[in-house]
Amino acid sequence: MTRTRTQVGIVGAGPAGLTLGHLLHLQGIDTVVLEDRSREYVEARVRAGVIEQGIVDLLTAAGAGERLRREGLVHHGIELQFAGERHRIPLSDLADGRTIVIYGQTEVVKDLIALRLESGRPLHFDVDDVSVHDLDTGRPLIRYRHEGRDAEIECDVIAGCDGFHGICRPSVPAGVLSEFSREYPFGWLGILAEVAPSNDELVYAHHERGFALLSLRSPELSRLYVQCRPDEDLAEWPDDRVWEELQLRLGLEGWTLAEGPIVEKGVTGMRSYVCEPMRYGRLFLAGDAAHIVPPTGAKGLNLALHDVQVLAESITHLVETGSTTGLDAYSDTCLRRVWRAEHFSWWMTQMLHRPEEQDAFDLKLQLSQLRYVTSSPAAATALAENYVGLTSL
Ligand code: FAD
Ligand code: DHB
Repeated sequence: MTRTRTQVGIVGAGPAGLTLGHLLHLQGIDTVVLEDRSREYVEARVRAGVIEQGIVDLLTAAGAGERLRREGLVHHGIELQFAGERHRIPLSDLADGRTIVIYGQTEVVKDLIALRLESGRPLHFDVDDVSVHDLDTGRPLIRYRHEGRDAEIECDVIAGCDGFHGICRPSVPAGVLSEFSREYPFGWLGILAEVAPSNDELVYAHHERGFALLSLRSPELSRLYVQCRPDEDLAEWPDDRVWEELQLRLGLEGWTLAEGPIVEKGVTGMRSYVCEPMRYGRLFLAGDAAHIVPPTGAKGLNLALHDVQVLAESITHLVETGSTTGLDAYSDTCLRRVWRAEHFSWWMTQMLHRPEEQDAFDLKLQLSQLRYVTSSPAAATALAENYVGLTSL
């Protein structure tokens, strides 16, 4: 058994864990980051692509935004399509000039891993049997196996950044956390295709066959989604069927969706989930470990990074002053933004998706809501300011 000490033990090298490690490194605070998957797996996991301006600013200020600034695509609007028409929501005009940047989560993760390796601070991939202990004491412990050896790290604080299926949240004793959740009868089948995006801006489409989304990763790479069942069998979706469905749902008079080779395909179920508080003793949960949103609002990655921004400041305050005031406020501070994003993502989801058996009244309500949001500047502004990320909460 090897025994070491660190100030902050970080479980999970997704966007939350890696960003936290980097922000603390900039403050001269020691961390160890543990990840149960391989570096190759983590770097190739295709997920989010929409980054709020506030998060671009955070990464830039932390020296992690150089490639993001160079290669990220700045967007000033999105389009909503329904009843055979497209309507533009001019995000920047409605939200004080703020923008979103299209840059893959895979790229954010690669940039952060490169910075971590450059810092020389420990980041261990392929660890097994991670467990957390003594959480309600001043010296919490992480145990794990790495390269065939058992190891134990004594920490001042543990950050649970291990995603929705991680071990940190389930390690909190029963009865401490309150959980709030909603399952949706929808999934998203997502593809990456080697073809120039057919539209300059994202298109969120409401269609009688179900929701579809046109997005992108670069001028040569399209990212597209179709609503499917949450447990959809990918084997039932050969490439031809995916394109056929996308053509139907995104189709518009006088516009064509260009097709190309599909290089990645996956299904994601949709759920909303929050646990409160995002803390137990010296364990602090951040990102998907504490909350999940359905992807329709493009909020998950952004929320994860907002959490660790607050957590890094709170830990720095503890290290510099010995005061736990920041850490004591961590959960409440984060939950204000979390619940705003939960509402926004739920609202976007119910406005745009088609349940298998849709009540005619519900359909009329959806269409009315879509018309309102695309015709009333007040309603469009509410969408825009949530989409680009609220600055004050
Ligand atoms: P994760 O990315 O899940 O990272 C957790 C890490 O912990 C993983 O690397 C995991 O392997 C590791 N881990 C798990 N268990 C252990 C363990 N026991 N020990 C050690 N390590 C462990 N969000 C947006 O903001 N915008 C979008 O456009 C968007 N689109 C999305 C589209 C799809 C299809 C999906 C699936 C998600 C999307 N999201 C989006 C959500 C976003 O991807 C997540 O919210 C984000 O990955 C959360 O980051 P995280 O670091 O908290 O968790
Ligand atoms: C993407 C993902 C989202 O969840 C979303 O709302 C918009 C775009 C994307 O992967 O590009």
